[in-house]
Amino acid sequence: MIQLKEGVYWVGAVDWDINNFHGYITHRGTTYNSYLLVSDKIALVDTVKAPFYETMLRHIKEIVDPAKIDYIISNHAEPDHSGSLARFHREEAPQAEIIATAHGQKIITKYHGDIPITTTKEMPEVNLGDKTITFVPVPMAHWPDSMVSYIPEDKLLLSNDAFGQHIASTGRFNDQVDQDELWQEALTYYANILMPLNRSVDRALKALDGVTIDMIAPSHGVIWRKDIGDILTKYISWVAGENKEKVVIAYDSMWKSTQNLAYAIAEGVGSEGVECKVFNLTSRHRSDVMAAILEARAVLVGSPTLNNNVFPPVASFLAYMRGLKPMNKFGAGFGSYGWAGGAKKLVEEQMQLAGIEIMESDIDVTFRPTDDEWKIAYEFGVNVAKKVKE
Ligand code: FEO
Repeated sequence: MIQLKEGVYWVGAVDWDINNFHGYITHRGTTYNSYLLVSDKIALVDTVKAPFYETMLRHIKEIVDPAKIDYIISNHAEPDHSGSLARFHREEAPQAEIIATAHGQKIITKYHGDIPITTTKEMPEVNLGDKTITFVPVPMAHWPDSMVSYIPEDKLLLSNDAFGQHIASTGRFNDQVDQDELWQEALTYYANILMPLNRSVDRALKALDGVTIDMIAPSHGVIWRKDIGDILTKYISWVAGENKEKVVIAYDSMWKSTQNLAYAIAEGVGSEGVECKVFNLTSRHRSDVMAAILEARAVLVGSPTLNNNVFPPVASFLAYMRGLKPMNKFGAGFGSYGWAGGAKKLVEEQMQLAGIEIMESDIDVTFRPTDDEWKIAYEFGVNVAKKVKE
């Protein structure tokens, strides 16, 4: 039994095996966090992904008889949080009143059929006795229905997707896991899930302005109970699109020419003392590249021209990055071709659509880079680093 506060319990499930979360590689698994609040009345906040139903049920039964639960609160209807809702309501707690936002009501009905749901407009908070749960809608942080639940008596925020990390662990709190892994996963999660929703996350943070919080319990990963100002500061920085003196090069190559250009540019960047990470888009996953891009100032994308087009692994990455809309970056395309080029221009068009300001460049060589062309690529890297430092 895992207790967050007096009468507040974690009753979720750990998924050690998942490695692909709707297209995002989750190297360290994840958790689906449900919380049980026990006072004069009892509330379950969120459920778990359907295959983990039995685990959640076992955790709940360790604490209360499900037949005594008064409310099932759905902070978010995405199936990783509502997948067990209808079954739990039908089989274990038909007496419980389900509460969701109006959007949540519609989405739950689409996924689970017509079940009675009270909306947060009708019931903006519930009183459990010595605990009150206040519902704060935070639309588009992650879906239109998203909301967070705040318990003022415990200074506890049940933040749903916000502040999450895809990390499976035996420790349930942020001070019980490897810190490097935790911060890497918090960053990777923000980059791949929340980055395109910056404005919504910003509105959510503003909606919570002035609210006293000493614990943040998200729906994925560990619960922030120690130094919670650190994760709040990180979110403020990510929402604002703040970046560091870093460069990311993402490329793929057919006959190592674009690869040689990528390495030459990286050497040039490094010669100025600026950190540069290089990712081959066949051997590295796009979600890891986006994690590196979150705090980078410059993004360079290299592609050979194949059949008058962008090399497919690069095209796939560009589509992904365009959806995530990284903020406050500049960059350029580069590459090699045989007799008819075109990939560099197409790459830069997609980068612009992703919101990246294009820096003028001419790193587009035929067949393989000559020594002179290698030097030009190196010098381009030097200039990128200088611009990063401006
Ligand atoms: Fe973890 Fe938007 O669901």
